Amino acid sequence: MKKDIIPLQVLLFDNESELQQADMDLLDQARYAAEKAYAPYSHFRVGAAVRLANGEIITGNNQENAAYPSGLCAERVALFYAHSKFPDTAVEAIAITAKGNKGIINEPLSPCGACRQVMAESEKNSEQPMRVIMQGQEGPVMIAESMKVLLPFSFLDDYLLHYTNTDH
Ligand code: THU
Repeated sequence: MKKDIIPLQVLLFDNESELQQADMDLLDQARYAAEKAYAPYSHFRVGAAVRLANGEIITGNNQENAAYPSGLCAERVALFYAHSKFPDTAVEAIAITAKGNKGIINEPLSPCGACRQVMAESEKNSEQPMRVIMQGQEGPVMIAESMKVLLPFSFLDDYLLHYTNTDH
């Protein structure tokens, strides 16, 4: 038996004023998108903003439904729309923020597992690291410089390509 320690690195900032301008702008767009979330059930508004390699910014927010599982998280709304509009354009970064209806969220929003899976495939297809910029409503910001940090040991299509006759 062998134990392997795999280091993960994130960048931590006290607040958004320490960020480079492009990241600060993306967070602002995410915050603006969160305001328009459709979250009548959870009252937890999430906003996401995606920056593409062609300079386009695509935003999204969580969209809930009375049939709860039919809803979708902000990150996937934004990424799926980005890929539907610009299927061949790499994603450079995604910013994520959240707002509740009780108190101020002052810790970074950590994306859910399903969104991490979608972000990991998006990063692979982009052939470049995806920068993930996470904040609550205000205060500390955490940046992962690649999805590999947020979803190590990802299940990606390599398995399908290597071990099945899938030819996608
Ligand atoms: N939510 C997101 O939009 N993104 C996440 O990463 C975590 C959760 C949404 C889903 C649901 O509408 C609400 O937050 C409460 O879970």
